[in-house]
Formats: sequence, C-alpha cells, structure tokens
Amino acid sequence: MKKLETREDIELLVNTFYQKVQKDETIGFFFNDVAKVNWNEHLSKMYKFWETLLFGQISYKGNPMAAHFPINEMVAMEKYHFEHWLKLWTETVEELFTGVKADMAVYKANNISQLMAYKMEMARRLS
Ligand code: HEM
Repeated sequence: MKKLETREDIELLVNTFYQKVQKDETIGFFFNDVAKVNWNEHLSKMYKFWETLLFGQISYKGNPMAAHFPINEMVAMEKYHFEHWLKLWTETVEELFTGVKADMAVYKANNISQLMAYKMEMARRLS
C-alpha cells in the first residue's frame, strides 16, 4: 500500500473522508443541515489543516476549536459523534495509506478529537 507523502495524497484522503461524512447518518447533518458548509471552501481548508499537521507546511492559519463552538451551540456535539468521526477517519486513512505519516494522521486526529469532545462538553456545562 502507498505511503502518505504528498499534497495529492492529502487531497485524496480528505476528499474520500468527507464523501463518507457527507452521507453519514450519525454526523453528516452537522455539515449539511446545521453548518450548511460550502464544501469547496471546507475541503480546501482541510487540505491545508492536514498538510500543516503532517508535513509542517504552515498553510493553515485558523483556529479549529473555535470553529466548532457555534455548531455545538446549535446542536450538541457529543462524545459519540466524535468517536464516530474518528472511526470514519481511521478507516479512511487505513484503507488508503500506510507508514509513519498515516499513523500520525490517526494519532493526531485521535488527540484533537478527544480534546474537542471535552471542550464542547465543558462549553455546554458552562452555558
Ligand atoms: C463530530 C465531529 C465533528 C464535526 C461534526 C465537525 C464539523 C465541522 C463543521 C460543520 C465545520 C465547518 C464550520 C463552518 O465552516 O461553518 C468544521 C470545520 C473544521 N473542522 Fe470539524 N468537525 C468535527 C470534528 C473535527 C475534528 C476531530 C477535527 C480535527 C482533527 C476537525 C477539524 C476541523 C477544522 C480544521 C475545521 C476548519 C476550521 C476553520 O474554519 O478554520 N473537526 N467542522
């Protein structure tokens, strides 16, 4: 299987993942109905986000946590949503790529997802 090493690899990974997310019964509605994302903009942001995390190519300048609080205010983003997000991400990485960067993509997503789930929960408790 192929190593995760180029910008094209990131694009394939991100596109494949969000194709699944878009159709997903558990979390798809956050994107389609709650945030009503502009998919072109979202995907191009996510290429930069993962390129920054995995290749140290500093092209993403946003604040990933901050982007999720308004969504969480509209519909609670629960632990099981994040667990499901991570399951889809891990499956997608593993079906397409192998090697250190692929492992890192799963590892970092796991850390961020747990932290994000915790922050969303705290925000709800404090509101
Ligand atoms: C249940 C889990 C998740 C849901 C439903 C979700 C949903 C969303 C939505 C709807 C947006 C678009 C916001 C907008 O443009 O209005 C967004 C943006 C984003 N998400 Fe998530 N997300 C989840 C988990 C994650 C995780 C675990 C990560 C990181 C590993 C992540 C990284 C990002 C980033 C980087 C952005 C772009 C933020 C920006 O505008 O700069 N998301 N997410």
